[in-house]
Amino acid sequence: MINEMTEKIVDVIGIGLDGISGLNSQTLTLVNRAKFLIGSSRHLSYFLSHPGHKINLGNLQQGIEQIIDLISKEANASIVILASGDPLFFGIGRLLLSQIPSEKLRFHPHISSLQLAFSKVKIPWQDAKIISVHGRSPESLIKNLKQGTEKIAVLTDPECNPIEIAKLCLDLDILVPYDFYICENLGGKDEKITYFAPWNLEKLACLDSGIFSTLNILILIISPIYQGKFKLESLPKFGLPDSVFLNYPDRPGLITKKEIRIAILGQLELQSSQVVWDIGAGTGSVSIEIARLCPESKIFAV
Ligand SMILES: C[S@@+](CC[C@H](N)C(=O)[O-])C[C@H]1O[C@@H](n2cnc3c(N)ncnc32)[C@H](O)[C@@H]1O
Repeated sequence: MINEMTEKIVDVIGIGLDGISGLNSQTLTLVNRAKFLIGSSRHLSYFLSHPGHKINLGNLQQGIEQIIDLISKEANASIVILASGDPLFFGIGRLLLSQIPSEKLRFHPHISSLQLAFSKVKIPWQDAKIISVHGRSPESLIKNLKQGTEKIAVLTDPECNPIEIAKLCLDLDILVPYDFYICENLGGKDEKITYFAPWNLEKLACLDSGIFSTLNILILIISPIYQGKFKLESLPKFGLPDSVFLNYPDRPGLITKKEIRIAILGQLELQSSQVVWDIGAGTGSVSIEIARLCPESKIFAV
């Protein structure tokens, strides 16, 4: 049942890559009755035979100005805005709410790409850190990679794509071994999930950037065997447990043990902003301790 008041409200309707077939009967009725149908060219392409006026949302800000204009001129016309997934999850919803009174808007979320991605890889996600690099700086992603956040979901974009993120992990030389799940075109006919193990990161980084669809979510999970070992923020300031360091598989236990490391750190009488060369660093445990104690120093470990 659709309230007659609907016609004075702008309905923001989430839609997936399954197009019309993914809408429920209520949202479909709203779309069918719309005098103005607004959305990206992909969203509008699902409704080629729709009789209403179609407005292609190219430039978002210009589009919103057009919508505001429509609301004031066509007070009783039914206006529907199509948005991908959940419009209030990194979507147009936030921008609409910042410029249009909330009582004029009604949201109808579809399943979000994030829900679909985690369902496909079959991993619970209530504890995931969600980061969007879609048109944003990768700063938060870098911080979380460095901190060893156990479960990260990244909304990517054509520039900051899974291949660039693999390169970033290699450049940052992060210790944490992440499993990479690249989840493309979720909910669509060409949906695809590709897995890369941490030791295949170089392979991923060498791929051609056009190989993945621009529509993808990247899920990064610390490989189960390493989970719990990389909560860096919960570790002591120095004297890290031996177990947090990666060992050479053929020489397990070959590491400068914690007690010796602590003695070395004391003997070194470290100061900030030094240049430190650790020649024959092995697993790099001493260098890593120095880097954590003196973040302004430059440490080279060979
Ligand atoms: C502006 S956000 C929109 C998110 C959307 N509101 C949602 O609920 O999923 C766009 C980003 O979401 C991701 N995305 C959206 N739909 C997707 C899909 N069907 N498959 C894979 N990723 C998707 C991509 O990372 C894309 O760059």
